[in-house]
Order: sequence, then C-alpha cells, then structure tokens
Amino acid sequence: MSEPKKLFIKTYGCQMNVYDSERMSEALGGQGYVETKTPDDADMILLNTCHIREKAAEKVYSELGRFKGLKVEKPDLKIGVAGCVAQAEGEEIMRRQPLVDLVVGPQSYHRLPEMEAKTRAGEKALDTDFPEEDKFEKLKNRPKAKRGPTAFLTVQEGCDKFCAFCVVPYTRGAEVSRPADRIIREAHDLVERGVREITLLGQNVNAYHGAGVNGDMTLAGLIWELNKVDGLERIRFTTSHPNDMADDLIEAHGTCDKLMPYLHLPVQSGSDRILKRMNRSHTAESYLRLIERIRAARPDIVMSGDFIVGFPEEAEEDFQATMDLVEEVKYGYAYSFKYSTRPGTPAAERAQVDPAAADERLQRLQALITRHQREIQDGMVGRTVRVLFEKPGRLPGQMVGKSEYLHSVHVKGPEIAVGDLKEVRITESGANSLAGELL
Ligand code: 5AD
Ligand code: SF4
Repeated sequence: MSEPKKLFIKTYGCQMNVYDSERMSEALGGQGYVETKTPDDADMILLNTCHIREKAAEKVYSELGRFKGLKVEKPDLKIGVAGCVAQAEGEEIMRRQPLVDLVVGPQSYHRLPEMEAKTRAGEKALDTDFPEEDKFEKLKNRPKAKRGPTAFLTVQEGCDKFCAFCVVPYTRGAEVSRPADRIIREAHDLVERGVREITLLGQNVNAYHGAGVNGDMTLAGLIWELNKVDGLERIRFTTSHPNDMADDLIEAHGTCDKLMPYLHLPVQSGSDRILKRMNRSHTAESYLRLIERIRAARPDIVMSGDFIVGFPEEAEEDFQATMDLVEEVKYGYAYSFKYSTRPGTPAAERAQVDPAAADERLQRLQALITRHQREIQDGMVGRTVRVLFEKPGRLPGQMVGKSEYLHSVHVKGPEIAVGDLKEVRITESGANSLAGELL
C-alpha cells in the first residue's frame, strides 16, 4: 500500500468553518489523505477562510505567500483556498497568487474529491457555485472514527436577512435548511462515536424550517426529536436572530431537559435609529421584551450576544443606548467588534465614524461586558452544576469541562474520564474559568 497523502487544514472564523473543515477532511480521506498538524510535511494545504471582519482577503494572501518556499521544495504540493474569502474572491485568488491550485466556496465542498484529482492532473480547480444538492449528503463517505464528547452539526446555512454590515448573505448564500431526518441520522452517528453534546449550527439557526415527516419542522421541533436520542445528553444551538425566536423555541428552554440554559442572541446595537440603519427589523425594546419572555421560561438562562460599535453614523447617544441595553440584559458572554467596512454591503457607502471614537467606545463597552461576565461567573461559586468533561487540565490529575452555562470548570479527580458528566460544587472563580469539586 502506498503512503497516505497528508492534508493540512487551517481553519479561520466561526464554528461552521470548524464543522466544514471536518467534512472536507473526511471527503479527502476518501482520496487517501490523513490530516497532519503542520504544513511542512503536507501534500495538500487548505486554508478555510473567514470574510466576516477586517482585512480578511489580505491576511489570506499574506498567509499564502508564506507557502512559496514549501512549494519550491515540493512541487507536488497542492494549495487550496476554501471558505468565505474563496467565495468572495473566486478566480481573483489564482490570478493574484498563482501558487494556488484550488479555490472552493462553502457550497461546493462535496466536489472536493474531483477537484483534488484535477489538481493532481496539473490543472487548476475552481468552484464557487451555489448548487441545489445537499453537500452534506454527498460528503457522507466518512470513516467511523471515535470522537470527543462535543460536536457541531450544521442544520441550516445562509441568510436572507441582509443586515447592512454583513457579508454572510453574499458568501454563504440564501437561507437553506437541511431535512430533519438527515440531521437526526447524523446525530445518532455522532453519539455512536462518543459524542454527548451537540451544538446545532446555522447562520440563522432559529429560522430552521427543514422538511420533517409531517411537513416543515421548526428548530424547537428538531430539538425535541434530538431530545429522544439515547446517549445524547446536551443540545445547544447558535446563532439566533431575535426576529426568529418563535414561541415553541422559547417554551422549549423551560421544558426540554437536554436543551442547555445558554442562548446566544445578538442584538448588535441598543439604538433604534442604528438598528433601523442596520436593517435589523427589531428595536431595543422588542429585544428586551423577548429576553423577559425567555427568562420567564428559564430563569437561570445565561445570555450571550454580539455588538458592533462605530457603525456608520453612530453618535455618542446611540452608543449610550447600547450601554443601557447591556446594563439591563447583563450578558454572561458577549462579543463586541469595531465596525469594519465590507465592500459590497450597503453600510460600506455611508459616513464612517472616526476610528479613534470607535476604539474608545469599544473599550467602554468591553469593560462593562467584562464586569457583568465576571459577576455572573462569580455568582456560580457555591452552586452545584453538571460538568461534561472534555480534556485534561494543565495541572496533574485535573480535568476540564463545561457547565450547562458554558463556563469552563476545572476539577481535580483521577477518577474522571473524558466524556463523563458529573455533578460539581463550584468553589472558586478564576480569571476565565471556575474550579470545583466532585460531589
Ligand atoms: N463589522 C464588524 N462586525 C461585524 N459582524 C458582522 N459583520 C461585521 C462587520 N462588517 C459581527 C456581528 C455578527 C458577528 C458574527 O460578527 O456582530 O453577529
Ligand atoms: Fe449577517 Fe446574521 Fe444579519 Fe444574517 S442575520 S445578515 S448572518 S448578521
């Protein structure tokens, strides 16, 4: 038998890219590739790129430039660009960086095996179509390898919301949901391979409306189906849009035992004027009322969110409205970003905020968020949580896992194994994690 070829994948950006990289690795596994942790001994290098913020394309070009030496040493090395920069830039990538052999958009990963063969024949391979077929079905020839206790599972992809700052509707395309039976089959398969917690992924996951046995299913319907899967202990989902937070989903947070008390629900801004300019079609008030209803269903839920500061035309009073909203919600986690211009999106054409003012606002917002995050984490001390253990900690005999609320928890105990789910009493709150002892 010939030596397996080696594949190095570098993943940027969101959790969906992590999931996609796994699928690409499995697809190329069928072509005789095994993954390697370094580009130095690779026969193929794939960059799975992100286009959401900053000078994404420039970063990819500079990363690609670094592979020049490797390609000289090993002319058979194939270099590919996948993900949202591949979708956005297309052929331009090969024009600007001729050492690239393959460019594949997020909707075309199932065509990777043919594309790889084409590069082996000395040709360039480009595919940035939005085909009709379910790429995940075509990617199914996966080896049944054992897996860690947590996994991502993509249920929905793309977005029709067209927020004025965002590239996702252009790079990931229109909103599409996978049929429920395929997702449930994949969940069973993951559980057989050792997975105990599944995070359902979608750019607009709560808009899920995949075909079920009795017509379209909602995300809550899908979660209830997954709740029946034996051996699966925990369900999470991300990322949600406030406008798609349906009644059945809110209710599930109070009644579905495997659904974890954590919700990522980005609001982006607390100013109605800015929300309107962002094309968000919700107000600060409607968002706050929504959170009230979610907390009525599940009082201990930990909220998480995303914020953009320095969106075009944002004035100090708009920013203050964001601070007020944060003060009212008190997020357990929140991700805040300085607005970055994405060419081709409506907001790119508008009057930009002075970068120094935006930096200063970002610092103030992050300080407030950090304070709340800290208070919520400290509030866990003395409480009993259930921890799903994921890996050994830094200290000998220590294991790390996640609580229901997604806090990292360190516990000493040689008897704990990866994949165990145990009750832990929290004793300490550190910089970024909790410590506790087994009950
Ligand atoms: N500038 C800054 N942040 C952005 N996000 C999306 N597009 C931009 C942009 N152009 C943020 C949003 C989104 C998160 C994934 O990234 O907050 O929820
Ligand atoms: Fe982008 Fe999310 Fe808005 Fe869709 S809903 S356009 S993915 S920020």
